[in-house]
Amino acid sequence: MDKREIFNILDRWNEWSGPKDIGLMRNTYIDRLEGLINGTGHIITITGPRRAGKSYIMRQLARRLSDKGVKKENILFVNFDDPRFLSLDSKLLSQIYDVYREFISPTDMPYIFLDEIQEVEEWEKWVRMMHELKKARIIVSGSNAHLLSRELGTLLTGRHIDLTVFPLSFREYLLFQGIEITSGIDLERNRPEIMGHFRRYMEHGSFPEVSLSDKKMEILLGYFNDILTKDLINRFRIRKTQELKALVKYYLSNVGNLTTFSSLERHLGITADTIDKFTGYLEDVYLIFQLKRFSFKVREQEKSPRKIYAIDTGLCNSVGFRFSENIGRLAENIVFLALKRRQAIDPRIELYYWKDPQHREVDFVIKDGLEVKALIQVCWNIHNERTRKRELRSLQKAMKELKCENTLIITEAAEGEEKLNGYNVKMVPLWKWLLFEDGMTVG
Ligand SMILES: Nc1ncnc2c1ncn2[C@@H]1O[C@H](COP(=O)(O)OP(=O)(O)OP(=O)(O)O)[C@@H](O)[C@H]1O
Ligand SMILES: [Mg+2]
Repeated sequence: MDKREIFNILDRWNEWSGPKDIGLMRNTYIDRLEGLINGTGHIITITGPRRAGKSYIMRQLARRLSDKGVKKENILFVNFDDPRFLSLDSKLLSQIYDVYREFISPTDMPYIFLDEIQEVEEWEKWVRMMHELKKARIIVSGSNAHLLSRELGTLLTGRHIDLTVFPLSFREYLLFQGIEITSGIDLERNRPEIMGHFRRYMEHGSFPEVSLSDKKMEILLGYFNDILTKDLINRFRIRKTQELKALVKYYLSNVGNLTTFSSLERHLGITADTIDKFTGYLEDVYLIFQLKRFSFKVREQEKSPRKIYAIDTGLCNSVGFRFSENIGRLAENIVFLALKRRQAIDPRIELYYWKDPQHREVDFVIKDGLEVKALIQVCWNIHNERTRKRELRSLQKAMKELKCENTLIITEAAEGEEKLNGYNVKMVPLWKWLLFEDGMTVG
């Protein structure tokens, strides 16, 4: 490509030609990214599902750096989604870098942001070379867990740190609606509004664009179709498309259920091998997550049936999940996502569910190193005496077996304490936990 053409594209995306739209700030990610860039000297990879807000977060990080004094000419932002880029290969990367140096003349080691990098062939080689020669600090992003392709991924092993971006947390969601909660007073003042938003958060999920739009269902269905067609069928060259759709629908309408590939084989009439392969793809594109059973024995853990959770409860509802009948399951999914967000910021923690041979179950076990840090039971029907007793008995047993006192019951509305094994166990409504305590429980 001609130098001038390349420069025109770069000019469109960089703040040296004027400020760009960076949307609403997502400070949890930006703080973490800023720390990683300045603290580690590693290449930063930003991954996550389609439409979660990765590109916006990249631009916000660039803005934060310039607000902190990095000169605009020392930041280069490249968006490979721009259709004017013709051949996407590592030669283009070198050309872009040369044009940047010639036209903009950075005065210090630049920060280079490469957005939608998965489009560029053999990008890892170029990125590694730049990093090794200390020519730039590099931040890349793309929509897929296979951003680092199998063959070339090793080129960056030990040289990069990954951050996963999720759809909005409830706190972020409220900020997007113009509500900032910093104290209990804010909470009481805005309580009816918050409850209304919480209901929508559960029903329509929290993709940023969806949260801001009136056409929530249309957008969600669009995302669903794009994930299915572009991210799955086209990328993995899947021919059994009907089977894939059946499996996706099954997973999205059965979040929180225990599944084994052999039981699904019978239920859906798809071979266990195909289910296994497809499930891997669905995880790669961050549509679903598998949660394993806690065990002190790794082999047992690996063999255990999995629970499936979805990236967004709005997606579950858009493909036929019966919202009002299964609200407790969606609540569980929301707790799971809050824990995953925490894990993205603090990668040492591990998540499991717990189940014993008597079928007693605890929804979430949080482990940090060798230690079980917390147990969480999501109990939506706590007013039903039988359910309540069953859930508490399970929790009691798990507390003993895992030697963990730090335990929490998340409810729809009930607040207070339960005495279990001589300990006071707190009950907190989900919406409140999301705003105040999700960090503290595991921190
Ligand atoms: N911080 C934000 N403030 C306002 N709107 C946002 C924000 N983040 C995302 N959005 C909205 O969501 C849409 C998707 O965001 P973005 O393009 O950053 O996602 P992405 O993760 O890069 O998606 P893709 O994988 O498709 O590249 C944006 O077009 C915008 O409408
Ligand atoms: Mg993007």
